[in-house]
Amino acid sequence: MKKIEWDDGLSVGIDVIDGQHKRWIGHFNSVVDAIESRGGHAPVTSTLGFLIDYTDLHFATEERFMTATAYPEIAAHKAKHDELRVSVANLIADFEEEGDTPALEQAVDTFLGTWLIEHIRSTDQLFGAYITETGLILPVD
Ligand SMILES: [Fe+2]
Ligand SMILES: [Fe+2]
Repeated sequence: MKKIEWDDGLSVGIDVIDGQHKRWIGHFNSVVDAIESRGGHAPVTSTLGFLIDYTDLHFATEERFMTATAYPEIAAHKAKHDELRVSVANLIADFEEEGDTPALEQAVDTFLGTWLIEHIRSTDQLFGAYITETGLILPVD
């Protein structure tokens, strides 16, 4: 399985969001560690749980920022977040039913790892560019 490493090419130009993406990647890498250490059900369940909770928090932050700045692409961006929410819910349901299988590992790589990076590189960076170009101020809380 492949871990994700942060690099500057992933920056969206907004410190709060970059900081959250770094923590998000950290949670993703913990899931990979938990699966690869073959320590059983509990560590995978708990690391996946942390990743899910952090995903909710992170999406809520971005969606609040987009609402506050009247971002024109908010509907499309939110739809992508919703897609991931569904993928992750399915992934957890499969894990609860079948445990750690090669299919689960593949799904973690594809639905989470690849998705995270692509989403940051395309969708999140578009929002970052909007904020940079308009000079709009993001809400502190
Ligand atoms: Fe996003
Ligand atoms: Fe994001």
